[in-house]
Amino acid sequence: MGSSPPIEEIHLAQEPEINGIPGPRSQELLETQREVDSNAVAYPRRVPVALEEAMGATIRDVDGNIFLDFFAGIGVLNVGHSNPYVVEGVEEQVGKLTHTIDFPTEPRIEFIKRLNDIAPQGLSGNSKVLFGGPSGSDAIEGSIKLAKHNTGRHGLLAFEGSYHGTTAGALSLTAGKAYKEGYGPLLADTVHVPFPNPAETELGGDIEAFCPAADCCQSGVCGRALDAVQRKFESPYGGHENPAAIWVEPIQGEGGVVVPPEGFLQGLRDIADDNDALLIFDEIQTGFGRTGEWFAADHWGVTPDAMTMAKGIGGSGLPIGAMMYHEKFDTWGPGGHVGTFRGNVPAFVGGIRAIDYIEEHNVLDHARTVGSYIRSRFRELAEDVPQIVDIRGKGQFTGVEFRVDGEPSKDLVEAIQRECYHNGVLVWYAGREKSVLRLLPPLVLTERQAEVGMEIICESIRTTIANHDGVETSE
Ligand SMILES: Cc1ncc(COP(=O)(O)O)c(C=O)c1O
Repeated sequence: MGSSPPIEEIHLAQEPEINGIPGPRSQELLETQREVDSNAVAYPRRVPVALEEAMGATIRDVDGNIFLDFFAGIGVLNVGHSNPYVVEGVEEQVGKLTHTIDFPTEPRIEFIKRLNDIAPQGLSGNSKVLFGGPSGSDAIEGSIKLAKHNTGRHGLLAFEGSYHGTTAGALSLTAGKAYKEGYGPLLADTVHVPFPNPAETELGGDIEAFCPAADCCQSGVCGRALDAVQRKFESPYGGHENPAAIWVEPIQGEGGVVVPPEGFLQGLRDIADDNDALLIFDEIQTGFGRTGEWFAADHWGVTPDAMTMAKGIGGSGLPIGAMMYHEKFDTWGPGGHVGTFRGNVPAFVGGIRAIDYIEEHNVLDHARTVGSYIRSRFRELAEDVPQIVDIRGKGQFTGVEFRVDGEPSKDLVEAIQRECYHNGVLVWYAGREKSVLRLLPPLVLTERQAEVGMEIICESIRTTIANHDGVETSE
């Protein structure tokens, strides 16, 4: 095992250095990309930059500008870009053995054991891990098969606002209409019910009268959501065969970083148990430390039957998708779920080293502290910026919702994102109306980078709001 540098030492800089963007080389590459690459390319349309190098929470573009990265390759680079300790192991492995389908290797077996060690209580020590294809969508496809295979049912239940990926099964679960319009029919009997957002107006009245949870948390939106789920299973006129499973992001990511009320996940657990359905947590975005715990499920102490993982678990950004499920559901035989890319040895090593790094440097504590600081800066700002209507999140997962004249404002968030980019901080957005600023920096973002980054973001918000009337949007 090589040396593992402290969090402060794995970045290109502590502050951005911007000298006119997009610079000439970026402009050339962006133009050539428009000519040769697919029209489906999306990210550079909002953040026009061509990348050269990245370390920790910093990115250098091809013209030498340095940005602070507050979105980490959309939640992938949790221990930072090119973390030297992770890269060392990955490079060594690339030179030795990379692709083994599902033959055993030391890294494969060790990675499964380490995932078991950090798994949510109730899955730890009694679960199996399955590596299917390398993406999050692939992991979701595996979970659909797992649920169908174990229940003999075919219906699926997910939530409004959810995002589970883009392959046909995963796309059926994804709620965003823009992703699926024109591609139907997708999987039959997939239903979406409301996800409880505490920021929505609470429903009045006697909540316990309709909330099915044994231990009602007194949130009206939670009671309403659980009631809708329960009716899909238990109402004789629920409209469908009972679903095989419930898929839920413990904190909705793309849906706007929505943290559900206290009793929601336990309520789902109870409904799944009462109806012999599986409860599946999609931890693809919230997992591997993003929310300040290994998995978001840990915040509520609720154990899913299965959990999907991807994005950050390879440590270095090498793609790897996985599903962990209770061993009682390991009912398929050899070849029950297959694919050529059933795990990748350098990605296993990257994942193991990322776990080492997180443990050795108390990265989860660090992410909680720095994430709380970020939200506290937004709360201060909100005191005199009424367009900020909600600030939410856990660990290094933050959402800030904007409204203009009472309406969700996609244009304002897009303009803020552009202003942050011009000032050297890369941020992303989320939300059903695209009106949420989503921050998901590497967990190793330093305190200094957070301070500098938040100065820039807050100033960018003020400037953008001051000029908002003249703002043009890209669509
Ligand atoms: C919660 C969640 N599930 C599934 C996916 C799909 O993962 P992938 O894009 O790797 O297919 C994503 C991707 O953003 C996600 O955030």
